[in-house]
Amino acid sequence: MTDDRTTHWNNRYSGSAPDDLSWYEAFPALSLSLIADATGPGAGVVDIGGGASRLPDALLDAGYHDITVLDLSAQALALSRARLGDRAGAVTWQVADVTGWQPTRRYDLWHDRAVFHFLTDVGDRAAYARTLEAALAPGGTAILMTFADDGPEKCSGLPVQRYAPEDLVAEIDRLLPGLFEMRKTGRFAHITPGGTEQRFQYVRFRRRNGTGG
Ligand SMILES: C[S@@+](CC[C@H](N)C(=O)[O-])C[C@H]1O[C@@H](n2cnc3c(N)ncnc32)[C@H](O)[C@@H]1O
Repeated sequence: MTDDRTTHWNNRYSGSAPDDLSWYEAFPALSLSLIADATGPGAGVVDIGGGASRLPDALLDAGYHDITVLDLSAQALALSRARLGDRAGAVTWQVADVTGWQPTRRYDLWHDRAVFHFLTDVGDRAAYARTLEAALAPGGTAILMTFADDGPEKCSGLPVQRYAPEDLVAEIDRLLPGLFEMRKTGRFAHITPGGTEQRFQYVRFRRRNGTGG
């Protein structure tokens, strides 16, 4: 499964310029503000399925210096490294499938924009949850952005699981009972480079203290 996924995503990133991909955003304003509301620049941040996003650039500009970008597409990470040039060395790049990743440390903040919604298989969501539990420090913050319940049924040609904010809260609680409390939810529209509106939602969770595993 990981091989098929990797091929799909590497093809996407080698077939189009990053700013032509439907999920492209020139500046990740909402992500940055949700991250900055929950952490300071000393926080360890991991961007799950970060792809060629400009989030690491924005975090570096904001003074963050412990940034990891994970993606199963080496092609995507190569694009970000090339864009960042000399600054790429200030970021840790991790090629991995989140459902099988075994982190060797813990982070203060987990950010996922448009990755969890691809996990239409309940076993994959359970595997994602295991990684989230292993990677996030007690008291840490997880931000998950997915297509909303009234959003598109596919992303990048793949079927997605759509969520209302309360559905995502319930799903994370089903996967990791009692581990997280919801801190903030919202809905937003992303306009693709082709001009199409995509309805998203997000949830910001806080991992409860005393649940260090
Ligand atoms: C829709 S794109 C979003 C990219 C980025 N988060 C952004 O907002 O620009 C989804 C990304 O998740 C990555 N991805 C998909 N499934 C993944 C998985 N199971 N593990 C790690 N990365 C994955 C893809 O390679 C792609 O870069």
